[in-house]
Amino acid sequence: MADVNFTINYEEFSSPEEMDPIDQNLAAAALEAKKGSYSPFSHFQVGAALLLADGTIVKGANQENVAYPSGLCAERTAMFAAGANYPDTPMVKLAIAASDHGVLCESPASPCGSCRQVMAQYQRKFGRPIEVILVGSKRIRKFHKVDDLLPFIFDSLTIDE
Ligand code: THU
Repeated sequence: MADVNFTINYEEFSSPEEMDPIDQNLAAAALEAKKGSYSPFSHFQVGAALLLADGTIVKGANQENVAYPSGLCAERTAMFAAGANYPDTPMVKLAIAASDHGVLCESPASPCGSCRQVMAQYQRKFGRPIEVILVGSKRIRKFHKVDDLLPFIFDSLTIDE
């Protein structure tokens, strides 16, 4: 038996201006993307902005449905749109911002488990880490790879490890 310690490193900023210009721009795009939210049930507006390796930014926003499971999170609308429209262009980083009833959350919203699993799949598809930037009004968190948000990622290649 061994006690094993697991450490996650991430960066925290108190305003977008502390980040480099590319990340600032992506954070602004995530804030902008919230405008596409269709959230008549939760009134929780989530925007996602995904930067691709060629500089393209693909936006997504949560889409809700009266039959609840038929809706989709902002992160997956962005990633699936990119996957469908730019299948050969690697995904580099994803910024996410959320507002509750129109007010940007102070602490950034964190992606759900299903979205993390989808991020992990695209990391695998493109063979490179995807950075994740969570944007709140009081703090911003930047993770260097999806693994840091989803430790012990399910991956069929590691089942027999
Ligand atoms: N939601 C997202 O779009 N992304 C997340 O990371 C968490 C939750 C959406 C789903 C639903 O439309 C609303 O937020 C409330 O859960």
